Amino acid sequence: MTDPNNSTLVLSASDIAEIVRAVGIDDLMDTLISRMTTAFETFDPEQTVIPVRSGFNYETPVRGLIEWMPLFNKNENKVVVKMVGYHPDNPEGFDLPTIISTISCYDTQTGHLKGIMDGVFLTALRTGAASAMASRTLGYPESSTLGLIGCGAQAVTQLHAISRVFKLKKVLYYDNDEATLTSFRDRTAMLNLNIEWVPTTIEKIVEQSDIISTATSINIGEGPLFQNLKTKDWLHINAVGSDFPGKTELPLDFLKDSFVCPDFLGQAVVEGECQQLQAADIGPEFFVCIKNPEDYRFVKNQKSIFDSTGLPLEDQVVMDLILEYALEMNLGQKINIEKISADAKSPYDFLYMNDNLTLNPAVIAAISEKQNGSQKINK
Ligand SMILES: NC(=O)c1ccc[n+]([C@@H]2O[C@H](COP(=O)([O-])OP(=O)(O)OC[C@H]3O[C@@H](n4cnc5c(N)ncnc54)[C@H](O)[C@@H]3O)[C@@H](O)[C@H]2O)c1
Repeated sequence: MTDPNNSTLVLSASDIAEIVRAVGIDDLMDTLISRMTTAFETFDPEQTVIPVRSGFNYETPVRGLIEWMPLFNKNENKVVVKMVGYHPDNPEGFDLPTIISTISCYDTQTGHLKGIMDGVFLTALRTGAASAMASRTLGYPESSTLGLIGCGAQAVTQLHAISRVFKLKKVLYYDNDEATLTSFRDRTAMLNLNIEWVPTTIEKIVEQSDIISTATSINIGEGPLFQNLKTKDWLHINAVGSDFPGKTELPLDFLKDSFVCPDFLGQAVVEGECQQLQAADIGPEFFVCIKNPEDYRFVKNQKSIFDSTGLPLEDQVVMDLILEYALEMNLGQKINIEKISADAKSPYDFLYMNDNLTLNPAVIAAISEKQNGSQKINK
C-alpha cells in the first residue's frame, strides 16, 4: 500500500532487537522457516522476477565486495533490494561482521522507498532458515549429527535453524581460527541446546555427520576444504560459503557423486559450487524439489548438496515477516526522505513557500550568517 505521506519506515537495529525479544528467537526462526517453505513451494518465476546479483569487488583498501540483490514481486507491486558487503577482514580488523547489509523495499506504482532495515541479522537468520528448509527436504529424516565447518556468524544460525527441524544429538565443529572455534559454544549458549558439543577436525566432521553446513570465508582459489573422504551414504551438505567466482568449499569428486541442488542456478554456476560442474551434473533448482516432494523423496537416502548462494526471495520473506511484527508493535520511525513538492513539477517550491516553512532556528541563523558574509564580500 502506498503511504499518502510518502514517508519511509526505517527499522533500526534496536527495533529489530525489540521484535526478537518480544517474539522469542525460537518462535521467530520457526515462523521464518515455515514462511520460507511456503514461499518456495509457491514460487512463480514469472511473477517474482529475480536477476542474478551484481556488484563491485576490490582489493583496496581491503579485499571485499559490495553487491545488490534485487527482486521484483509483480503481484505485490514491490521491488526489494538487498545491499550487501562481504569483507572477510572485518572481524579481526574492525570488530565488525564479515557480512554487513541493509534491505529496502520500493513501491512499483510510484518508485517510492517504502522501508529500509538492517540486513546483517536478517541475512544470518534467513540463511539459516534456508539451510533448515533444504536439509528437511533433501536430508536424511533421522539425522542427528550436525557438522559445522566455519564457526562464524552464519554457523550460529545454521545450528539454530537446523536444530529446529531435526532432533540433533551432537554437533561436530571446526574453524581454522582458534579463537572462533573456542568461542562458538558461548556464542550459541542462548539456544539452550541439549546436545553433545565436539570440536574436531574437518575429516571427522565429514566422516561422521548426517548433515553439514560449510560456512567459511575461505579465500578464492584455496578450496576445497577437504579432499574426498568416506561419508555416510545420506550425507547432506548446505554449501553456504561458496558465493563468489573461484571461491568454492567442496571437492569436485564429492559434488559429482551427489545430488546437487542450487538455490538459484544462474547465480550458482557463476559463484556457487556449481561453477565446478557441467550442466549434466547439476540437479533442479531447489524450488522445483520442494514443489514436487514425491519426485525427490529418493534424495533423502543419498548424498545431496544444497548449493546456497543466497536468493533474494529469502530476503523478501524475512523482510516481510519483520515488517509485519514492526507494524503490529508500532515500531520504527517514519521519515520523509524523499523531497516531495506540493506541486509535483516544481522541485524548487520550498524556496517560495516561506509562509509554511518551519525551519530549525539554528539553520535560520546559519543561513543569515552566510548571507551577511557574502554581502560583506560583495561590498
Ligand atoms: N549463501 C548465502 O546465502 C550466504 C549468506 C551469508 C553469508 N554467506 C557466506 O558464508 C560465509 C561465512 O560468512 P560468515 O558471516 O559466517 O563469516 P565469518 O567471517 O563470521 O565466519 C567465517 C569463518 O570461516 C572461517 N574459515 C575461513 N577459512 C576457513 C577454512 N579453510 N577452514 C575452516 N574455517 C575457515 C573463519 O575463520 C571464520 O571464522 C562467507 O563466505 C559468506 O559470504 C553466504
